[in-house]
Amino acid sequence: MTPKHFLTTQDWSRAELDALLAQAAAFKRTRLGNELAGKSIALMFFNPSMRTRTSFELGAHQLGGKAIVLAPGKDAWPIEFEVGTVMDGEAEEHVSEVARVLSRYVDLIAVRAFPKFQDWSVDREDRVIKAFAKHATVPVINMETITHPCQELAHVMALQEHFGRIDPGSSPEQILRGKKYVLTWTYHPKPLNTAVANSALLIATRYGMDVTLLCPNEDYLLDPRYMEHGRANAAENGGSLTVSHDIESAYRGADVVYAKSWGAIPYFGRWEAEKPMREASRHFIVDEAKMALTRNGVFSHCLPLRRNIKATDAVMDSPACIAIDEAENRLHVQKAIMAALAGARG
Ligand code: CP
Repeated sequence: MTPKHFLTTQDWSRAELDALLAQAAAFKRTRLGNELAGKSIALMFFNPSMRTRTSFELGAHQLGGKAIVLAPGKDAWPIEFEVGTVMDGEAEEHVSEVARVLSRYVDLIAVRAFPKFQDWSVDREDRVIKAFAKHATVPVINMETITHPCQELAHVMALQEHFGRIDPGSSPEQILRGKKYVLTWTYHPKPLNTAVANSALLIATRYGMDVTLLCPNEDYLLDPRYMEHGRANAAENGGSLTVSHDIESAYRGADVVYAKSWGAIPYFGRWEAEKPMREASRHFIVDEAKMALTRNGVFSHCLPLRRNIKATDAVMDSPACIAIDEAENRLHVQKAIMAALAGARG
């Protein structure tokens, strides 16, 4: 039987996501438990991390489980993902063996594998995590590939905590529906992954918010797959999704400002050609003047964040910034995800 994975929140019903958020809130109140006693998780990092690695390792430990961290190509063998290839390059073993062997050792496998940033038509297939999910016989968790679903839950939890103070008994959807949510592109000296932006679009529309995607021009629209999911989610959940290139009208009246930088998809693999356009859009930085246009709005970011590039010191150090709460919530939501998936296996 195919195990239930946590690859994208789109595969999980809102009732299931609400249950994860409720469990995460319980773990936030009581950190230690035995939900993962005798269980283990392999954390496969193809890219660097601070928050994800720390929170998964500690989360497993706090629930009585054990995490093993592997960096293929560094402290573990490089892995091949192509099917039917003659493996005469760097890779020493195929994901087919890696996923099945790990499944004999551990109860969960988590994968971080960013795009290669050369060809979006290849990267958008998300082959690394899909190959693990195909060959593993245990649940696979997405620690960020072309979406970042753990970050989504931590983000919603932080918003729920902030806006829910008025009515603590309400569900996340009751708290967030109808809020004006601005997902703003920001400048960064390098072209970055669209994963968190894709995820923000998915989860904000899933919880019925009125979402504005603010970006310099049409080249910074997200992949049509995520734009379509966002529109469908909005239609289903009573919210909306609009695109704006006008900073002032986008910020005006916003309840939430979520910032992220990403590379323009039409320029994938031709980043020198994108650079002048990106450099000309440094003014998308989140600053006090823009936040003053909001309706006493909150600001957040997934972190890491370059100060005074993506957001000013004043915004980061203001009471409106809930990025640290969101980062803390990674620990709680991931414990809920691990407990749900490992518990489902018995
Ligand atoms: N937000 C996030 O995933 O942080 P790390 O890259 O440090 O894990």
